[in-house]
Amino acid sequence: MHIPTIGSALRRTIVTAVLALAASACTAGVATDHAQAPAARPVAAVAPAPGAEPFQALVDDAHARFAGVRDGKNADYIPILATIPSELYGVAIATRDGRVYTAGDVDYRFSIQSVSKPFTAALVMQQYGGPEIIAEKIGVEPTGLPFNSKLALEIHKAKSVNPLVNAGAIAAVSLVKAKNEKDRWQLVLRNLEDFAGDPKLPLLEKVYDSEYSTAFGNRGIANLLFNSERLYSDPEEALRVYTKQCSVGINTVDLALMGATLANGGVNPKTGKRVLDETSVPELLAIMLTAGFYDESGRWSFDAGLPAKTGVGGGIVAVVPGRFAIAAFSPRLNEAGNSVRAQKAIRYIAGKLGVGIFGANGQ
Ligand code: DON
Repeated sequence: MHIPTIGSALRRTIVTAVLALAASACTAGVATDHAQAPAARPVAAVAPAPGAEPFQALVDDAHARFAGVRDGKNADYIPILATIPSELYGVAIATRDGRVYTAGDVDYRFSIQSVSKPFTAALVMQQYGGPEIIAEKIGVEPTGLPFNSKLALEIHKAKSVNPLVNAGAIAAVSLVKAKNEKDRWQLVLRNLEDFAGDPKLPLLEKVYDSEYSTAFGNRGIANLLFNSERLYSDPEEALRVYTKQCSVGINTVDLALMGATLANGGVNPKTGKRVLDETSVPELLAIMLTAGFYDESGRWSFDAGLPAKTGVGGGIVAVVPGRFAIAAFSPRLNEAGNSVRAQKAIRYIAGKLGVGIFGANGQ
């Protein structure tokens, strides 16, 4: 059988054309291990080898790209949050080996709010010898409802719902084993400091006063929980400590390091201190994936494929397990209470790196 050979000039032309095609595919973000993906829907580039990621360039790019976004508005149901300058905007990445990359207002201290919730759930896991306590006493189901929903308590009678909505978070605070209220608060604060690797996180007193003096909804939730034996301390004590927890001041770098501690299997990359047993990390991240964005958790998982947590102070942190965390802060929120710019910035970086846990998410 005669097999036609290709002349060397023609062969060179074909090789050059193939290489050019491959190069254009790469710049368009087409992953080589996603060759089966339909051409019409480009997917993100394959994540670079650890240590070689263009983190600084990406953080700068994400910051610049969304700085002009003005959508959403500051939270105002906690009156003082409406007065925080809306233009503030910071982006940071912290890796499991302690490298930190930043852009924008990363030193500004804002209230941690709901981003504190997974970390107090972690404290409860530590005190009770593993994650099962959360499933047993609080629940792990996403509610599909807003973070402050009372309806969710009625629907999910048996359990509080999950530790990332207000009800479950207040229940988590009530579960912390403590001698008294002061001790409970100190344990909660120390734990947040350990996750951030910062020995002195401040309580933002004005935020606390503003929230506690208007906490009628959360007080209702605490009392409802207590009434159905789903709160494990005095309700007003749990409410006060929970409100203090939400009023802790952090900056975007702290937030990135808190996430990096989870990315690093529960050991803070800056201090080397173990804060959470490695065996509890997957369960905590699973709750963050399914409930970290409240009633937008499905959309977030669909878009970014990363466990994350948001707060009405404007902070969001997402964890790339075993590798790094991406944090961002900006006060304007969407309807669900999630920072618009922070969400866009994190989603953008994750998409560029192709680090969704189920594979590279489309951009
Ligand atoms: O309890 C509250 O309503 C606030 N301290 C925290 C809510 C929150 O951050 C929801 N996050 N997106």
